[in-house]
Amino acid sequence: MSAWFPPDASFLASEMDRAFFGIYVAAAFAVVLVVGLAFVYIMQYRRKDEGDKAFPTGKANILFQTIWVLAAVGLAVYAFGLDFCGYMDRQVAPGNALQIQVTARQWDFDFAYPNGYVADTLHVVVGQPVQLNIHSEDVIHSLTIPALRLNQAALPGQQTTAWFQADRPDTYDVRSNIYSGDGFPEMQTALVTHTAADYKAWMATVTDIFAGKTMEEVGELLYNKQGCKACHSLDGSKLVGPSFKDLYGNTFDTKEGVRIVADDAYIKESILTPNVSVIAGFEPVMTPYAGKLDDKEIEAITAWLKSMSQFGQQEGN
Ligand code: HEC
Repeated sequence: MSAWFPPDASFLASEMDRAFFGIYVAAAFAVVLVVGLAFVYIMQYRRKDEGDKAFPTGKANILFQTIWVLAAVGLAVYAFGLDFCGYMDRQVAPGNALQIQVTARQWDFDFAYPNGYVADTLHVVVGQPVQLNIHSEDVIHSLTIPALRLNQAALPGQQTTAWFQADRPDTYDVRSNIYSGDGFPEMQTALVTHTAADYKAWMATVTDIFAGKTMEEVGELLYNKQGCKACHSLDGSKLVGPSFKDLYGNTFDTKEGVRIVADDAYIKESILTPNVSVIAGFEPVMTPYAGKLDDKEIEAITAWLKSMSQFGQQEGN
């Protein structure tokens, strides 16, 4: 709309600019009118010599005053009406909006996606409405995205929301505009607006736990992330479940007295449907991971178990 506005990245931003520009022009007009008239009247009605009366007297022009007041009120109502729909649009996100949880803290932002992935930059798809559910972990911050004309407070203990829909693929500034201490200048990140295909590719890359890691490393990561840690120790001590130390390739007796070897197949079965054969001395309390871990992830866990077992090493496989 104007060279002194930042580029606008959504139709809501253009609506906002129109409202801002309208108010700006009306205000400028009012200043010129009032100051101009004041100046004219000073010149015209100033006391010229001793003989002048202190003030010109005259009858109030009721008609003129009525028109003046009505015109001013009319202008205000017109301005209200002009942006009322835009205001409602900005307040209420469409029902199909993608929900992203935004956490502000000293001194960064987190963006949690519906699939659970948490990023420190905000990524969205062009043309897709996005609702931001914002809160702060410590003091008051704001989520400010100039290109969207979006500025919402991030409050501790209370959720605020904002929504937008990006127009075209690009990268924009995201920051807070409420001073929050020493690290405030670093409290900046980026909004990246993708095409649908790019977004999918981005999400696939960042959520790929295998990227840049060995199978064993992924296994250990899953152990920490999937809650195995709560029941399985790594140092040989018995928790709710048997320790993972020297588990791979070892022999165990089940409750039914069947002797099994913890090989790849048995480990896979134990993870997917743990309570089918239960190791003696333990309760069948392990959560089945069928549907939660895929084959490749189970392979990674198995490879990691193998690397921690003397039986795995000995067999040389
Ligand atoms: C709620 C506690 C709990 C959690 C969480 C848990 N387990 Fe278990 N797990 C057990 C118990 C108890 C047993 C022994 C009883 C049985 O075999 O079902 C067991 C048995 C096993 C066995 C077979 C052990 C053997 O000696 O042959 C494997 C392998 C295993 N768990 C892997 C995992 C993995 C991998 C995870 C995480 C993805 C996991 N467990 C999460 C409790 C748990």
